Formats: sequence, structure tokens, C-alpha cells
Amino acid sequence: MTIAGTLSSVLAQAATSAPVVSGDVREFLVKIAYAISAIFFVFGLKMLSSPRTARRGNLVAAIGMALAVFVTLASEPNIGLPVIIAGFMVGGLIGLIAAKKVPMTGMPEMVALFNGSGGLASAVVAAAEYWKVADFSEHMLDSRIAIALTLLIGMVTFTGSVVAYAKLAGKQIGGVRLGNPITFPLQHLLNVVIILAVILLAVAVAMNPAAQWANILIILIAALLGVLITIPIGGADMPVVVSLLNSYSGLAACAAGFVLKNNGLIISGSLVGASGLILTMIMCKAMNRSLLNVMAGGFGQDVAAAGGTSVEGKTVRQMDAEEAAMVLEACQKVFIIPGYGMAVAQAQHAVAEMAGLLAAKGVEVKYGVHPVAGRMPGHMNVLLAEANVPYEQLADLGLNSEMDQCDAALIIGANDVVNPDARRSDSQIAGMPIFDVDKARTVMVCKRSLNPGFAGIQNPLFFLENTVMLFGDAKKMVSSIVSELKES
Ligand code: TAP
Repeated sequence: MTIAGTLSSVLAQAATSAPVVSGDVREFLVKIAYAISAIFFVFGLKMLSSPRTARRGNLVAAIGMALAVFVTLASEPNIGLPVIIAGFMVGGLIGLIAAKKVPMTGMPEMVALFNGSGGLASAVVAAAEYWKVADFSEHMLDSRIAIALTLLIGMVTFTGSVVAYAKLAGKQIGGVRLGNPITFPLQHLLNVVIILAVILLAVAVAMNPAAQWANILIILIAALLGVLITIPIGGADMPVVVSLLNSYSGLAACAAGFVLKNNGLIISGSLVGASGLILTMIMCKAMNRSLLNVMAGGFGQDVAAAGGTSVEGKTVRQMDAEEAAMVLEACQKVFIIPGYGMAVAQAQHAVAEMAGLLAAKGVEVKYGVHPVAGRMPGHMNVLLAEANVPYEQLADLGLNSEMDQCDAALIIGANDVVNPDARRSDSQIAGMPIFDVDKARTVMVCKRSLNPGFAGIQNPLFFLENTVMLFGDAKKMVSSIVSELKES
């Protein structure tokens, strides 16, 4: 939706910068067409809420966006088509290369950059609208407010998303790992002062349309605010922040819609804003955190890439694929908990094949899908759907109620989402709901080492008496288990 929002921002800007030649009937038809595309968006979003209908939902929303784009192009006779086509080609090429090159594991970074582009596009549209006139008094009061708001939200989204990208990509500046929360005294007070300053600047533009300096300051200060509100947020909270920035990009597009008086953009932007906010709240709930708490920052030091925490003096039990296959086929109930490592290894097809073989041997198999497993919302759902895992085998955290009847919990490349330390109040991930796999009779953990996961904290699960480690790449290990199951 963010790409679509960006696209329609740019198209609508081009459309409205041309002289409008439309009769009453044409205007009525345009409004009807935008209403129809809005209906497509709403149904598309509704279908995205279930893995079963998600693909069709994407298609339905894309049809709605195609209709909105077509209507915008068709309703403006002097739209300057060559420039639009050039924009399509450049943007389309960048999108195509990114989609081909970026691995599945790099999706959160790409989504962060998409959000940022949406925010920047809206801010550019607002700036172009403001500075295109010879006489600033042509801007009515409502336009001036909409322009100031679009500049503010667009720039906050842009720089906030760039920082989110840098954090997710594990970038460093001068030896400082950006993934770690960056905090300093009076940080929140400074943010409040900056927000008040932006409000005053917006009032200045509202009172005097020629106050160009105020709009320039809004752009600069909003860019600073985006950085300041994102740097204190720790690695473990990044899913929530990316989702929030996605919501901001929708709000920026919606505000740009008011600048351009384009209903299609207002509707699609507000839908992205609202659905992004709902997703943010769902993610906060999944992490057992309040939004305010997330924004205050400091949660989850990203020390994983720095080598992890010490595990000296602790011992673990290990198994190879042959033994694992023997244990699994002797079970009645097996719960598979996939995580980020399954995505890295692209092990989903092997996992689905293994589950199918176990089911054929009479084992009841269920998948526990944690809302923040992996690196983006719905990450595990997408991978498991790709491997044609039956939807009825998918379960959420409600699976915990059956955990004491589970013979083996098989964890494939998951770590934080099964870390029992989350139950301890002094843990960095305290309160985050987890799969209580330690309550299963046997816990089998497939990963390459004892290194921590995204939150950067050690997992005591690995050292429990009922835990065995299956060390190795998830795809290789599960494929070996599949071979063993086929032979037995
Ligand atoms: P993590 O806690 O990140 O653990 C993943 C584990 O996969 C690592 O410990 C790693 O251990 C293992 N791994 C990596 N490559 C592997 C491979 N080729 N084969 C086997 N294992 C491999 O993952 P999780 O349990 O899914 O939890 C997700 C975390 O990411 C949470 O902290 C969440 O807050 C955060 N997060 C989530 C999102 C969203 S929206 N889902 C977005 C950003 C961040 P080894 O190195 O030892 O193999």
C-alpha cells in the first residue's frame, strides 16, 4: 500500500498541476470511480487479515489502486503524460530491481525504506504545491494548514524510516551501533519542545501564507524530529516502529490528498494510516507493551551481532538428524515453532515435507506462529503459505493451552519467541508473550549455535533438562530428518 500511496501521490500531483477541464458529469463519474476504488481497498484490507485470503486481498487492493491511477490520469487532459511515464519507468525499475535483489530476510529494511519514500513523496508534493504559485496569498487557509501538516508528517516519516532502516540493517556511525537504543538526558523534553515549535511554525504559515521561512523550518525541524523519536527505540521494538511509520506514511499521503483536493489519495492514505495504526496496536499487544512505552525507548539491546552473551560453563544435550527422526515419529503430538532462522535458511518447504511425513505416520502436527516471529508482520504465515502448509495446522499463542500434552516442541530457527526469560520481570524482554515450549515433554531446538536472537539475550531454554539441540542450518538439518523419515 505504501508504494501505491507514493505512486498515487505523484500521479495526483501531476494531475492537479494541469488545468482542470471537467463538466459536472465528469466530476461525478470521477467521484464514483474513487468510491469504487475505495471499496476495493476496504475489501482488499479485510482479506489481508487471513492467510487464506491474503493473496486475493492483495490483488483486489491492487485493482482498486489501478482504477484510482487510471481515473486520475483520465480525468486530467493536460496531465503531462511523458513525465508520468518517465516517473513510472524509473520508479518501476528501482522497485523491480529491489524486489529481485533483496532477500526475504531483508524485507523489513525494504519496508522501512518504502515507508520513508512514501513520506518523502508526500512532503515533496506539499512543497511543490506551496512554491508553485507566484503569489502565496492564492493559498487558502485550509491549503496552508494541509501543506504544513504534510511537510511535518512526511519529513518525520522520511527521516524516522531512514533511521529505522539503519537500525534494522545493523549500521554503525563512529563505532556506535545504531541498533542499540540511543538515549541522552532530557531527550523527551527536547522532543516536546520541538513539537511545540513545529505547531507555532504551522500557526505562522496559517496566519501569513508568504511565511516561506516557516515552511522551510518545518521541513528541517520535522526531519530532526523523525531522527530524535526513532533513535531511542531498541532493536526488539523495531517491528512496532516500522508498523507505526507505515501508518505515518499513510497519514502523510492523506494530508497530501487534502493539499491536492484528491479524494482517492485522501481515502487510500487514511486507510493506510488507520490499518497501520491497528497493526501497531496488535503488535504492541503481542509484545505486551504500550505504545507510549515503546516510544519512550530503551527496550532490547541489539547485542546479537556483537557476538552474544557468554554461555561458558553451561552444557547442552545434542542430537543428530537420525535420532531426531526417531524421536519425532514416536510422538503423538508435535508442535513446530518456526522463527527467523527458518526464513534465513529458506527451510519452509523441507519443514512442510517433514510435517507431511510425520502426519502420514499418524503424528498430529501443529505449527505455532508467533505474531513477531521473523522480521516482519506475518513473516511466518507468508513462508508457510508458500510451502502449502494447511491453514488448519496453523495456531497462534493459544497453542500454549495444549503445550503440556505436546510430546515434542520442534523449534526451527526461533529464539526470542520461545525464551522463558520473558516471564522474569528483570529480563529485557519481560512481559513479551512466548510459546511455553519448556512445558512440552521434549524440546528440540534447531539452530546453528547457542548465539542469541534479535533481542540479543541468552536463552535458558537451551540448557534445560528436557531440551536437545539440533545444531546446524535449518534447511540442511530438516532435509536430513526428512531423508531419515523416508528411510524408516
Ligand atoms: P530470533 O530471536 O531473531 O532468533 C532467530 C534464530 O535463528 C537465531 O538465534 C539464529 O541462531 C537462528 N538462525 C539464523 N540463521 C539460521 C539458519 N540458517 N538455520 C538455523 N537457525 C538459524 O527470531 P524469532 O524467535 O523469530 O524472534 C523474532 C525476533 O525479531 C523478536 O525479538 C522480534 O521482536 C524481532 N523482530 C520481529 C519483527 C517482526 S514484525 N516479526 C521485526 C523486527 C524484529 P544461530 O545464529 O545460532 O543459528
